[in-house]
Amino acid sequence: MEIESNIPVEATVLGGFTPVGASMGPKVYIETYGCQMNVNDSEVVASILTDAGYGLTNDMSKADVVLINTCAIRENAETRVWGRLDVFAQLKRQHPGVLVGVLGCMAGRLKEELLERRSTVDVVAGPDAYRDLPHLLHEAELGQRGVNVLLSHEETYADISPIRLDRHGVSAFVSIMRGCNNVCAYCVVPYTRGAERSRDPQTIVHEVEHLSQMGYREVTLLGQNVDSYRWLASGAPERSAVSFADLLERVAQVDPRMRIRFATSHPKDLSREVVYTMAMYENICNHIHLPVQSGSDRMLKLMNRHYTRQGYLNRVAAIREVLPDCAITTDVIAGFCTETELDHDQTMSLMREVGFDMAYMFKYSERPNTKAARHYADDVPDGVKTRRLEEIIALQGELSEQSKRADVGRQLEVLVEGPSRKRPDQLMGRTSSNKTVVFPADGHKPGDFVLVEITSCTPATLLGRIVPE
Ligand code: SAH
Ligand code: SF4
Ligand code: F3S
Repeated sequence: MEIESNIPVEATVLGGFTPVGASMGPKVYIETYGCQMNVNDSEVVASILTDAGYGLTNDMSKADVVLINTCAIRENAETRVWGRLDVFAQLKRQHPGVLVGVLGCMAGRLKEELLERRSTVDVVAGPDAYRDLPHLLHEAELGQRGVNVLLSHEETYADISPIRLDRHGVSAFVSIMRGCNNVCAYCVVPYTRGAERSRDPQTIVHEVEHLSQMGYREVTLLGQNVDSYRWLASGAPERSAVSFADLLERVAQVDPRMRIRFATSHPKDLSREVVYTMAMYENICNHIHLPVQSGSDRMLKLMNRHYTRQGYLNRVAAIREVLPDCAITTDVIAGFCTETELDHDQTMSLMREVGFDMAYMFKYSERPNTKAARHYADDVPDGVKTRRLEEIIALQGELSEQSKRADVGRQLEVLVEGPSRKRPDQLMGRTSSNKTVVFPADGHKPGDFVLVEITSCTPATLLGRIVPE
């Protein structure tokens, strides 16, 4: 599985899993794009379909049903999906009985238009409609192409045990909420995934217990804005409401040898309680992903982010006061509507001031129907966006290297994930701060915690050797 981050990326996740399910049933192949939430949704879909008698395959040419779980966050994410649909059209010419389904955020955004634009597509299911997939596929087998993109105020798939599609059985995603109630002007997510709703904490704790019993050593709690997680059982008094800090504590208590991560934190909502909870539990990782988007107050206001540059810096200072070693990573958008050189300089100076350990950096891409698309002109020329993005990437390269150099000479706990991709004779794992470390195996295996002395670094990776016990 190729997954790079704690946040949405346009990563293709091709199943590296062991095919499971009823061997006689039709075989489903699932390809996933977008964020970790989509990865976890594909695991939910796999569970729903195997319960309905389907089997899973990671070989597209052997599939009876080909599903693509899509992302709509930027135009290029959608372009890739259109390209894949052309490939599926070819496959259908070779194997005429194959059904093709489009799931996820593009399904939520384009709805019937997907059927109109591509005759290849038999089924369209939005993020809240996965329970309906067996029915939609059954109808499609009978020749009836179908769409269900209804968004729900309640659906959290809380009772479904996702079938884990990762390769190593070490690290798993657990969705704690769905949707988003913010209206960041550039963002399509509230339109594709609907209103925010939190999942019953008890089902989350049970899922984490189950993962611990299965041998998983790390979970990442997922939500678009985890700090606004809130659960209040119906009829229960207000004081029994469960906040994200409460949930984090409950999850951390499940198994002290299980690492806990979470994403994404919104700078306007990240609470002191969460930071204190992180300090209280060894097994909660020392890392906060805190997307800033821009360093300019004017841009932040136009983006509808509800914090200022100084407000963001204050949050960072508050985190560092309690957790001096906490890694802070971010997302940045270059070239949002009306962005000037001065605004851009402010983003660069904020990046320097914070010294982010890592960042995901994007060129602004106008998304239909968002607040920005309706009200502001996408007026920064593409060449200027590209140049600003390149400057941002170059600066972050320096900052990331500084952050890695600071680790050289340290001894850090690493959770082993599997063989290194570039050096298959060595192991790869992550530090609590989410940095990748590569080191000789010394008899260790995925799922082990090892103490590694960091001896050097490359631009992307820490290198080291295991400290003998
Ligand atoms: N819920 C998270 C992340 C959502 S999407 C949050 O609020 O931070 C992940 C990242 O994609 C965003 O943080 C943003 O940097 C980027 N992004 C979202 N919409 C975009 C757009 N229209 N163009 C470019 N980047 C975008
Ligand atoms: Fe999009 Fe903003 Fe919601 Fe994140 S918080 S998903 S950027 S609307
Ligand atoms: Fe994720 Fe992309 Fe949807 S980032 S929430 S899959 S638009």
